[in-house]
Order: sequence, then structure tokens, then C-alpha cells
Amino acid sequence: MTDASRKPRRRIMLAAGLGAMTGGATLAWRWGLFSAYPHGSPLRLDIGDLPEGRLRTVEWRGLPVWVMRRNAVEVAALAAHEAELADPESRQSLQPATCRNRQRSLRPDIFVAVGLCTHQGCTPALRADTFLCPCHASRYDLAGRVYRTGPATANLVIPAYHFETGRWLVLGLDA
Ligand code: FES
Repeated sequence: MTDASRKPRRRIMLAAGLGAMTGGATLAWRWGLFSAYPHGSPLRLDIGDLPEGRLRTVEWRGLPVWVMRRNAVEVAALAAHEAELADPESRQSLQPATCRNRQRSLRPDIFVAVGLCTHQGCTPALRADTFLCPCHASRYDLAGRVYRTGPATANLVIPAYHFETGRWLVLGLDA
């Protein structure tokens, strides 16, 4: 067996093992998503002209990645509904350590996340102040934190990224 043919099998075994440890397929699916990160090049994005409230989707390493500029009211509102969330402190969710905060971001205004529901991978849509998944109605707030009301139990995945200046965002590398 070549190294190239061994790697996918090892990844599947890791995913299966992790799924068995946690007793669920959802985390195994998330591991598969997360393990895609080390491959490919970083992507530089000019966010200087991104208006407040606008969600931009870019494709990065085969994944839809959202970049959104939140306003001060939206950021302040994140503190108001934490009792309704499944993982308000992102203890069971995937993000860089630098983004494990209430806003789940490096900067309060700029939100970056993989735009795939952590239940089974559908694409949620922005509806006012939430992201609503059309498949089984999981709902996420504007920090990608999931509400208890749907089947998803983990927050949206936050990829590694950093800012080069006020207007350049680099996906794929931590600060
Ligand atoms: S895939 Fe989103 S709720 Fe099932």
C-alpha cells in the first residue's frame, strides 16, 4: 500500500474512532471537514468594501466560507440569548483558540465561518439576525452559535484566518 492510499484510510479510521468515542456520526463528519484544512493555499480577501449586514461567500478549499460585517447592535445582541444556545462558550465546537469568545471572531465586526450546518452539511441562509438551515431547521446566531431548538448541537466551524491590514483578510493561517 502506498502512502497516498494509506492516508484516506487513516482519516476514515480516525473519524470512525472519534465518532464511536462520542457516540455520534455528527462529530465524525465534522472531523472530516476539519481534516481538510491543512491542504491548499491561503486565500487573501479584500474586505475593505464589505458593507455592514452583507454576507459574502467565497469558495476556499472546496468549502463555502462566509465573511460578514456585523454592526455594533448585532454584536451587542449576542449576549442576550445565551441561555437558548447549545454551546454558548464553544466548548464542543471547532474554532481557532483566538476565536473562542462570544463573537467567535478576531474582530467584533468581522465574522468568518464555514457556511455548512454541523448537523448534516446543508447550507443555512441568513434570515434577519439568524442563520436558518432549510433541511431540519437548525438555527445559528450571528456568531454561528447553534440554538437548542434544532438537531445540530455544535456551532458553525470557524477556519483559521488573520488580518494583514484593516482591509485584507487571509483565510487558512492563524494570526
Ligand atoms: S442539515 Fe442543517 S439541520 Fe439538518
